[in-house]
Amino acid sequence: MDHAETSLREKPSLVTDEYWMPFTPNRDFRREPKIIVRAEGMYYWSDRGDKVIDASSGLFCVNAGHARKEIADAVGAQLRELDFAAPFTRGHPRQFEFARRLAKLTPAGLNHIFFTNSGSESIDSAMKLALAYHQARGQGGRTMFVSRERAYHGVNFGGVSLAGIVNNRRRYGPGLPGIVHMRHTHLPQNHLVRGEGEHGAELADDLSRFVTLHGAENIAACVVEPIAGSSGCLVPPKGYLKRLREICDAHGILLVFDEVITGFGRTGQAFASHSFGVTPDIMTMAKGLTNAAQPMGAVAISERVHDAIMDAAQEGTIEFFHGYTYSGHPAPCAAGIATLDIYEREGLFERGRALSPYFLDAVFGLEDIPVVTDIRGYGMFAAVDLAPSGLPGLRGHAFQKKLFDNGLHLKTTGDSALIAPPLIAEKKHIDVIADILRKTLAVI
Ligand SMILES: Cc1ncc(COP(=O)(O)O)c(C=O)c1O
Repeated sequence: MDHAETSLREKPSLVTDEYWMPFTPNRDFRREPKIIVRAEGMYYWSDRGDKVIDASSGLFCVNAGHARKEIADAVGAQLRELDFAAPFTRGHPRQFEFARRLAKLTPAGLNHIFFTNSGSESIDSAMKLALAYHQARGQGGRTMFVSRERAYHGVNFGGVSLAGIVNNRRRYGPGLPGIVHMRHTHLPQNHLVRGEGEHGAELADDLSRFVTLHGAENIAACVVEPIAGSSGCLVPPKGYLKRLREICDAHGILLVFDEVITGFGRTGQAFASHSFGVTPDIMTMAKGLTNAAQPMGAVAISERVHDAIMDAAQEGTIEFFHGYTYSGHPAPCAAGIATLDIYEREGLFERGRALSPYFLDAVFGLEDIPVVTDIRGYGMFAAVDLAPSGLPGLRGHAFQKKLFDNGLHLKTTGDSALIAPPLIAEKKHIDVIADILRKTLAVI
């Protein structure tokens, strides 16, 4: 068959077999591709020219809305001036500036910033920091981590070992040793409750039980997402996070908050830690850190943890033996600084906080639809659970495809739809999102 014959018979497809898509049913995608070619503000445009409202901030990361010119300009200027500086033993001005700006935003006392390239790497880095801290203080026996059912901490082996979602673990062997899981906080008693549920603070006592069972002297850290994100916006019960903090303090266990989704205004303040009034010892970030215009993650570290590791190392030696080729890369640092400027200038965290009641009213207004089994939400983040149909997750998957065809992008996880609009959203956008959700839920 010559070339002319091929082009007459079939239109060459943009979607080819070479690219193996992450967390995607690839074969299904190739049959029904959903291609995005452009974005601006609250909207995507598909390759068919359809306008699609973004109800998940991409993947919970484009908090300042899409295609922000200020960020693109900052990255372009940075790459023209300095494209890369070896991050081990060499510095550049942007990384110090960005770390200083971030440390102002993070909860009090979390003043030291370590840069990574993703949320998964931030989690691995946080785990190493916890281990290094205890070793520095002569408590090297503390190697265990306490995580939680339904947790998502990315896909590297640290995060997979902490994971509390079976599909993230089941194909990948036993993972790191010494990781135990508390029960999750998704309780039937908190069904359809908006914000923090009244029931379940006592689930934090699972941590005490692990202390009794394994000995505090063996436990390095307790790692939780303040709101479990990827497993369906599980808002903590009232008092739960405070209780975890108290138990950690009583037993010398570090508390790590994974704020990869909850950071940068999603909960109505800079971090969920501020919203819930609980400060961890180590905090992981990514996503909204650069408004997703550049890949980047970060870890914020308390004075106590930082100083112990620094002080234990001999003068002239590397204090924390860890780092990535692209740690603190100039381009994402420039993107991050421009992103923080936008958050500040446009008051986006306050704006999200002000819009939250309207947003939650709209989402909880879907409760009467027969296929909806539960709704949860806090700040500008909510989940709508659908009754499964066939295998778990099939209905959720069909739902997000149909939504896209109806002009709305969101992320589903299993049979839950996760709704987290950019913080630039206005009431009219929330109305559009609610309308498309209602229309699609009626036929799914
Ligand atoms: C809480 C949490 N931690 C870690 C990660 C992993 O981040 P990344 O995909 O950037 O590695 C995610 C991603 O969604 C997340 O939600």
